[in-house]
Amino acid sequence: MTERVDVHLDALTGLNAGMNARESVSCGSASGDNTFYLETFGCQMNAHDSEKVAGVLLGRGYRQVETIDAARLVLYNTCSIREKAAQKIYSRLGAYQKYPGDEKIIGVLGCLAQQEGEDIFERSPWVRLVCGSASYSKLPDLIEELERGNRRVMGLDKDTDATFETEITRRDNPFRAYLTIIEGCDKACSYCVVPFTRGPERSRSSASVLEETRRLADAGYSEIQLLGQTVNSYRDSSPRRMSFAELLVEVAAVPGIRRVRFTTSHPRDFGRDIVEAIDAVPGLCDHIHLPVQSGSTRVLRSMLRTYTREEYLEKIAMIREARRPISVTSDIIVGFPGETDEDVEETLSLLDVAQYDGVYAFQYSPRPNTSAQHMPDAIPEEEKGRRLARVLDRQREIQIVRNEALVGETFEVLVDGASRRAGQWAGHSSSNRILNFTSPQPGLLGQYVQVRVTRSAPNSLVGEHVV
Ligand code: 5AD
Ligand code: SF4
Repeated sequence: MTERVDVHLDALTGLNAGMNARESVSCGSASGDNTFYLETFGCQMNAHDSEKVAGVLLGRGYRQVETIDAARLVLYNTCSIREKAAQKIYSRLGAYQKYPGDEKIIGVLGCLAQQEGEDIFERSPWVRLVCGSASYSKLPDLIEELERGNRRVMGLDKDTDATFETEITRRDNPFRAYLTIIEGCDKACSYCVVPFTRGPERSRSSASVLEETRRLADAGYSEIQLLGQTVNSYRDSSPRRMSFAELLVEVAAVPGIRRVRFTTSHPRDFGRDIVEAIDAVPGLCDHIHLPVQSGSTRVLRSMLRTYTREEYLEKIAMIREARRPISVTSDIIVGFPGETDEDVEETLSLLDVAQYDGVYAFQYSPRPNTSAQHMPDAIPEEEKGRRLARVLDRQREIQIVRNEALVGETFEVLVDGASRRAGQWAGHSSSNRILNFTSPQPGLLGQYVQVRVTRSAPNSLVGEHVV
């Protein structure tokens, strides 16, 4: 059983964007070896942070390599959202005991670094750099300290007031450019480490978001995805005081930009103006990721989600009233402390009402510092597993029916994947559905094409290019 049923896994396989950062000018490392290996765990925010970290290193004369063996600087951009993610990273780090002395510089970045801090040095003494996701603007200085011979360096500030911006982001996806507009999180969901690991909410100014969008359009990107843990809580830090919906409209108006996405939206801050903007501006993608977490108001209260089941469903109803169909996806946590069978039934019935196009479902995992960590009435792991299976099964049935109804429809698709088999392609619709399709035409990567759906599966659609 996989943990997720979704329609929006990136279909990009076997493609490499190549580097679009500047050529190296000087070697950054005192040892003369300027190679780095960077591996990323976790969410889209982490993936994009890694693009920025790679950009910074490339700008300092480092060269990215594909294997740990070939690298002098080995960096892990880590996730700590659930216990399993954290364990995986510690087991990776364990493998480094075998390297003698200073052969490699091992660094831990991201959420686990922020959460564990100095303890990482205790547990894995061969690690020399620990830098949390709220301190990346200090990363170049930290690396310089290592280059000067410092044994260990750490960046763990949480109150970094600026967002981490760099001109030389090395973007991995040649078709969709990610752009952070708000960092951190000011909500206090009782299960979640993010407010501790990514610090308080900080928004970029609308002017800098628009300027970067123009640069991305000039570089050839036509699809932009705006990122934030609570992206729709965006507050323009400049005198223009643009609302999130206004910003969406302006980003979509930048010449060359054809599609604008955004993730993740928090239900509490989700207003009608966003739906109206999507209705009015075709370039705003018809997909909203609006995590509910639970269908039970009692559990939502205990999770400190700040909305009830009814309030959430009102937002769904508002989205369904839009003039064009908007695809909706969600996150669900099962096995939260004190969750009863009735609560699970409420989550299942919410799936029926909400009719999501995709759901990421997770077993609750107690996290350090969070207020839910020591809540009574923990649910046994086996029972969490059973509940997860029930949620995934129900959602699968819903997606089978929803996707079947799409057979015969035509979608515009941005082609972002090619199969080794000739004539087979993959792409994403504006609604973020994956379409695998056939075409007699060559060279479709990066193009927008019309695809008619001929067959459906729970997580994807199969179709043919309408030439
Ligand atoms: N346990 C399980 N799932 C979690 N998430 C966040 N914190 C936890 C946790 N402690 C899930 C939420 C969130 C998604 C990114 O991860 O569903 O929306
Ligand atoms: Fe975590 Fe809640 Fe903030 Fe999302 S809104 S990052 S779940 S605290």
